[in-house]
Amino acid sequence: MSLLQTFLEELHSRYRSLEQGNPASYIPELAKADPSWFGICVVTADGQVFEVGDVQQQFTIQSISKVFAYGLALEDHGREALFEKVGVEPTGDPFNSLIRLDEDSKRPYNPMINAGAIATTSLIKGKHPTDKLNHLLAMFERYLGNPVFIDMPTFMSERSTGHRNRAMAHLMLNFGMIDQNIEVALDLYFQQCSVMVSCHDLAMMAATLANQGIQPITQKQAVNPDYVRDILSVMYTCGMYNRAGEWAYRVGIPAKSGVSGGIIAVVPGKAGIATFSPPIDANGNSVRGLQVFEELSLKYGLHLF
Ligand code: DON
Repeated sequence: MSLLQTFLEELHSRYRSLEQGNPASYIPELAKADPSWFGICVVTADGQVFEVGDVQQQFTIQSISKVFAYGLALEDHGREALFEKVGVEPTGDPFNSLIRLDEDSKRPYNPMINAGAIATTSLIKGKHPTDKLNHLLAMFERYLGNPVFIDMPTFMSERSTGHRNRAMAHLMLNFGMIDQNIEVALDLYFQQCSVMVSCHDLAMMAATLANQGIQPITQKQAVNPDYVRDILSVMYTCGMYNRAGEWAYRVGIPAKSGVSGGIIAVVPGKAGIATFSPPIDANGNSVRGLQVFEELSLKYGLHLF
């Protein structure tokens, strides 16, 4: 067995008993997650897979989708046009914070917080809502290498409880930062958050970013390589919400977390790594995932600096 596989198994058995945090409950469907689910997967840029635990368990991608929707919006509009609508500055605020929206530029700070993600998703091209959705799903399929599905109960749950997201969309409409049809944009945002993935899928998506946008197994281009740098830069500075600074300091690689318990990280040119475990801390990051990444970074010298 390879040294990496042995180490992943060691990490899994060390942290499976860690009982801190709770599965997110603000979206009722997410509260149904089993707190003991725990998977770790590494996919190298040339497609080798090392994994342990619940790596095939399906769950909704949540905020990790923001990374990939940002890539699609970059492809649809280009760097400068997108930059006018969505900034690239970290906030240090919770992911669902509204307060900075009413500051000077009225532009959401970055595409990894909810406001910036809703603005980003509102820009995804398509004549009708179904075209936009198909465009988005086709993008996810390029990264996964197989068809993707939306979990309808989670979508409905988000749609009926997402009042803060709705408030953000209204504020941005008021400032002219997004266009009229905010219900279409919100639905698409709730749908992208409700895409079903496994920990294995997430590592494959991260490995695609590590491999200049080429999916390691299908060898197809999932995203224009010109935009991989943009995507990784905002992941590095803004991907872990109000823990982004500490993550950059301790782990030192671009990453993104989601409230369903997933974390992805990219070691450029080398590998994509994903962890999945539903109990999250106050910032929205998976508690077991944070531990695993700190250890992996130390052991393999993954920190970029
Ligand atoms: O906007 C929301 O509330 C969710 N659908 C996305 C949340 C998410 O994963 C943010 N994360 N940490």
